[in-house]
Amino acid sequence: MFAVTAARFSSDDPLSALELGEHAEPTPAEGWTTVTVRAAALNHHDVWTLRGVGISANQLPMILGCDAAGVDADGNEVVVHSVISDQARTGDETLDPRRSLLSEKYNGTFADQVAVPRRNLIPKPAALSFTDAACLPTAYLTAYRMLFDKSGLQPGSTILVQGAGGGVATALILLGKASGFRIWATSRSEAKQQQAIDLGADQAFPSGARLPERVDAVMETVGEATWSHSLKALRPGGRMVISGATSGTMPPADLARIFFLQLSVVGSTMGSRDQLARLVTFCEQTGVRPLIDRTLPMSEAKDGFEAMIKGELFGKVVFTT
Ligand SMILES: NC(=O)c1ccc[n+]([C@@H]2O[C@H](COP(=O)([O-])OP(=O)(O)OC[C@H]3O[C@@H](n4cnc5c(N)ncnc54)[C@H](OP(=O)(O)O)[C@@H]3O)[C@@H](O)[C@H]2O)c1
Repeated sequence: MFAVTAARFSSDDPLSALELGEHAEPTPAEGWTTVTVRAAALNHHDVWTLRGVGISANQLPMILGCDAAGVDADGNEVVVHSVISDQARTGDETLDPRRSLLSEKYNGTFADQVAVPRRNLIPKPAALSFTDAACLPTAYLTAYRMLFDKSGLQPGSTILVQGAGGGVATALILLGKASGFRIWATSRSEAKQQQAIDLGADQAFPSGARLPERVDAVMETVGEATWSHSLKALRPGGRMVISGATSGTMPPADLARIFFLQLSVVGSTMGSRDQLARLVTFCEQTGVRPLIDRTLPMSEAKDGFEAMIKGELFGKVVFTT
């Protein structure tokens, strides 16, 4: 079958680690099944894998891709939950210390077929296209948990989204706006600030700009480049929810500000299978659909990776088979 793999690692030139070509079809283990992939979405996670983050060399070549929507062995249309936890485990799969995402220990979704545990499949409603559904399992699920679980906020609160253009960030804008939050966003790019407004943000600012007032919570995926601004943007008692650090993981902590203003910093990773099922229902109920920057045939996956690495995207890249 056709597959998009990490063949090696390169921290400086991740595109050089990408290979497209033939790969053996999956043989599902006990309790697993095979999904024929119809659409698979790109995440920054796939770029990290090419850079050698979160994976070791003895696992290469590894088929990339966390997200997919497709058709299962019985002909049902499904969305794949990417978090692989111990089969015997109940409750939040992301809290299993040995959990992984597809493409970390087990081959991922950028292929004609992917093997997954049967319990990781969620029915895809007819109202959602395969390309829309493929965007949900990582970026949109992460945004869902950040907003509705980890922020602790009620609708009407003001939320700052750092780095408006990203997959998680655009998901935060769309889901937050549909739920009655006041959404402010920042971006390095003036064009993306306007795109954030067009998408539903109430106001957009250049990265690091002084805000009209302090916010109840900041949604942080950028990391080092925006950390200090995020802390300064919070009202006393406010909360930063962090799920990523694209620009670096070691900013100055500014501990005095955190304790004097009684700020909370809360980590967030992916979401449970149950939350993914509720996210699917949320999209059905509200009519919200993922923002897709571009859809490409999987054979042109390299172009999507290149756009993500260059920071050109506003929304998701989806590969179709
Ligand atoms: N913990 C989890 O479960 C989880 C889940 C999903 C993603 N993540 C992580 O979250 C991060 C975002 O993922 P994604 O898939 O949304 O990535 P993406 O689509 O590639 O977006 C990258 C984002 O980073 C911003 N950015 C990058 N460098 C920046 C800089 N120097 N200064 C300011 N902003 C910068 C961009 O904002 P502008 O271009 O608008 O300025 C954009 O929002 C990644 O690090 C990813 O690994 C974690």
